[in-house]
Formats: sequence, structure tokens, C-alpha cells
Amino acid sequence: MSVQAAVAPRTAQKSAQVVLEARRIHKVFGGLVAVNNLSFTVYEGEILAIIGPNGAGKTTVFNLLTGVLPLDGGEIIFRGHRLNGLPPHAIARLGMARTFQNVHLFDNMTVLENVMVGRHPRSRYGFLEAALRVPWARREEQEIREHSTACLELVGMADLADELAGNLPFGQQRLVELARALATEPACLLLDEPASGLSHQEVAALDALIRRLRDEQGITILLIEHDMHLVMGIADRVVVINYGEKIAEGTPEEVQADERVIAAYLGEDL
Ligand SMILES: Nc1ncnc2c1ncn2[C@@H]1O[C@H](COP(=O)(O)OP(=O)(O)OP(=O)(O)O)[C@@H](O)[C@H]1O
Ligand SMILES: [Mg+2]
Repeated sequence: MSVQAAVAPRTAQKSAQVVLEARRIHKVFGGLVAVNNLSFTVYEGEILAIIGPNGAGKTTVFNLLTGVLPLDGGEIIFRGHRLNGLPPHAIARLGMARTFQNVHLFDNMTVLENVMVGRHPRSRYGFLEAALRVPWARREEQEIREHSTACLELVGMADLADELAGNLPFGQQRLVELARALATEPACLLLDEPASGLSHQEVAALDALIRRLRDEQGITILLIEHDMHLVMGIADRVVVINYGEKIAEGTPEEVQADERVIAAYLGEDL
């Protein structure tokens, strides 16, 4: 397989609309080049996995895509918008949502409240309107509550809506974070190692959930993951990075047979 092969995704072959394009994106930390002129394209409705050894630059790529970190070079085009210089909330509003490698929840808020926070980029009212309880703000609050509950139902967590997030086991906290990302109604969902710390059973449920989000909600998925069983079973295409550079790209079968990929993962089961 050629590293440059621009393989259209299997499931999106009919339309193959580009949703997201990273063009020679570059990020340096001090002397360390974390992401090195990396380019890749994401097609609507595909599940694209980004894999690579520890420290390869995967999370940094997500931080660049979501505006958490500024680019040192290159550009990012998402649904026709150039994202360079946009703050995270503006990028979220354009339809990009993410979960974090380390779960970011408000431990002292309930599960439902944590998800409602995610709805914020889409809400019109601010603190003052909420405090004064103007009727339309109350209606919007109710809409946010209902929509957030629906997102919890989607991930199978609705019965724990009133629990404090901090009291939940790790696997369930990850699902709450996922529900919060869904509350923003993303076109594109970025998942950073969603399977880490999950049991076999939980990973199987996650696998089914990710497929459902794509198939039923039409959400395009970018997945960073070390669980190769999950990646190779679920991804339409895989981008492999090492030292911030793309070393391979293709179907799961293609990248598993790629010599540079095998060398990067020497000694590990792909
Ligand atoms: N904010 C930062 N400041 C300085 N260096 C950083 C920062 N973020 C990441 N790095 C460094 O950049 C490199 C890439 O890190 P990154 O977290 O993107 O890797 P990763 O592929 O997500 O790794 P892992 O699989 O372990 O999560 C690493 O060498 C890391 O130490
Ligand atoms: Mg990472």
C-alpha cells in the first residue's frame, strides 16, 4: 500500500463528501515537533481511526482540530470553514465535539447537569436571563433538559441522570462525557481513547454505540484508540502517525500489512 494512497472510505463511497481536512498541520513544543506537516482528509459518515505509539502526537492533533492549541503551521478546513485562529467554542458551534483522554467532568454536578453544560454552545440565554427566569429562558432551559436527557438515553445512562458524576465508576464517567459531546449536536465527534480503562464488556457496548452514532445519527467519527481489536473492527480507514508524521493510511487490512506500521509497533499485537 502506498502511504499517499487517498482511499475513499468504504461506507461513504457513494457521496465521499469531505467534512474535515487537515492540511500540513504543524505543532512544536519547545524543541519537540509534536505534529509534523500532517495532512489527512475525513469523509462524511466514516469512522476514521488515528493510531500510533505513545507520544506520537495523536492528542495534539485533536487539540489543534478543536482550537485548544494554536497551529504553528498549516490549516484546518471543517465543513467549508477555515478553523485557524478560532476559539474552541466557535469550533464547537460549527459542529465539532470531542471527549478527552482524561475524563473532564464536574464531579459535584449531577450527570444530567454535566450533559446540560454541553448544550451551552447552542443556547441563547445567559446568566442574567436565567436568574431572572424570563419565560423564553425557562422554555429554553426545559428544551436543554429534554435534549440532554435524550443524549443520556442514547448512551444508556438516563437512569443515572441525578447521580453526582464524581460517584460514578470510570467507564460510566466516559459515557457521560460522550453524552455531553453529543448534546452539542456534532457533525463530527472526536473520541480520544474512549476504550481505555473499560472492561471487555464495556468495550463491546462502546463499539456498538459508536456504530449507532454513525449509522443512526449520521455523525462522522474520529477515533484515537490503542485497543487494536476495536480499531480494526470498527474503522473504515486508519491513519497511522509516528513522531508526528503520517506513516500510513488505508483500510485496517492495509495498515496492518504495512511494514512501517509493523516496525512502529514492533513487539505489539496489531
Ligand atoms: N502541552 C504540551 N507541552 C509540551 N509538550 C507536549 C504538550 N502536549 C504534548 N506534548 C508532547 O508532544 C508529544 C505528543 O504528545 P501527544 O499527547 O499528542 O501524544 P499521543 O499520541 O496522544 O500519546 P498517548 O498515546 O500517550 O496519548 C509528546 O512527546 C508529548 O510529551
Ligand atoms: Mg493521547
